[in-house]
Amino acid sequence: MPIPLSLYIHMPWCVQKCPYCDFNSHSLKQIPDYAGYIDHLIADLTQDLTMLDHNADHTIHSIFIGGGTPSLFPAELIAQLLTRINAQILINPKAEITIEANPNSVDVERFTGYQQAGINRISIGVQSFQADKLVKLGRVHNPEEAISAIKLAKSLNLQSVNVDLMHGLPNQSLSDAMYDLEQAIALSPTHLSWYQLTIEPNTLFGSHPPKLPDDDRLWDIYQQGHQLLTKNGYQQYETSAYAKAGSMCQHNLNYWRFGDYLGIGCGAHGKLTQPNGEIRRTVKTRHPKGYLQGRYLERTYIVPKEELPFEFFMNRFRLLEPTPKQEFIERTFQPLSVIENQIDIAKTKGFLIETDKVWQITEQGKLFLNSLLEIFL
Ligand SMILES: C[S@@+](CC[C@H](N)C(=O)[O-])C[C@H]1O[C@@H](n2cnc3c(N)ncnc32)[C@H](O)[C@@H]1O
Ligand code: SF4
Repeated sequence: MPIPLSLYIHMPWCVQKCPYCDFNSHSLKQIPDYAGYIDHLIADLTQDLTMLDHNADHTIHSIFIGGGTPSLFPAELIAQLLTRINAQILINPKAEITIEANPNSVDVERFTGYQQAGINRISIGVQSFQADKLVKLGRVHNPEEAISAIKLAKSLNLQSVNVDLMHGLPNQSLSDAMYDLEQAIALSPTHLSWYQLTIEPNTLFGSHPPKLPDDDRLWDIYQQGHQLLTKNGYQQYETSAYAKAGSMCQHNLNYWRFGDYLGIGCGAHGKLTQPNGEIRRTVKTRHPKGYLQGRYLERTYIVPKEELPFEFFMNRFRLLEPTPKQEFIERTFQPLSVIENQIDIAKTKGFLIETDKVWQITEQGKLFLNSLLEIFL
């Protein structure tokens, strides 16, 4: 089976930097040259395409335009971007094409423009429906704007609409967290990403940590939130990802199933299987300044063979679905014998169940995922 190829496109600007965020995003000091950035993305893609195996039949299976705040880009430029990509490498007509949108940077015209450009999935960064929580998170939108953005996206009958919410927020009670989920569920997005807030070292929250709920409360929020989502038809398929039937995010699934992807734009990462079975990773220049001077590729390297099992399982075991053994062989180009001992250890510890064709992570394995992965280091 050919390895599916996706495309990630990074848009690095935001109206203002959120205090918890360590994504590659930069506050707008002045309006950037959005059109010029599109030219750079295309030049970056052109360089990347020389690294593809030209004997393989490559078409793009999914596109994710992430950020930063991609919805700062006008629809005409997103249309131009997709047309110019398609002129270089065929985008499968059925490809899932997502754009991330912040509630403060959307209106009817922009969303319909995105749809006309070929976007069929919109992911809206809501984080919370409570005004005080949004202020504490440094968000530039209010709950009403979030609700309108979701309603608007839903009205377009796209393939899927995702809402990003976070939990474990400063001073969040169990009922606050359930309120956020209930509000989201009432708007009926097809996909819900429900992340626990993590404090990242290189952020404002990292240097000035807010008071977060204790472990017992975090556990209650997770348990009850999970139940509420499940009861309402949202099936968990990854640690933080819940979807209605048929609405799992194809782009993220490709990452987690260890598929290939091109990554263009500031700081974007790529993974490209080479004709000889080696796996090449690419990392793009992180800061817009260097990137806009035409220095796209910061580094590229071949992943050492002995690290591949760990890399494969680190992605694969995030998914709750079983892992076909065949996929390990096809995606790492290694025989099962290289992990036989580690699989035995994982089974003995109760982290995995093995059948002829698959490995299934157990509840114990999910709970102690780091210990499970360490076995493959
Ligand atoms: C690439 S980010 C940004 C999307 C968009 N710019 C926004 O903020 O709405 C995607 C999502 O990651 C989540 N996220 C970002 N930082 C996080 C953190 N420190 N802990 C947990 N989730 C985080 C947020 O839910 C966010 O919507
Ligand atoms: S808007 Fe999104 S990407 Fe930008 S700083 Fe905030 S969380 Fe990060």
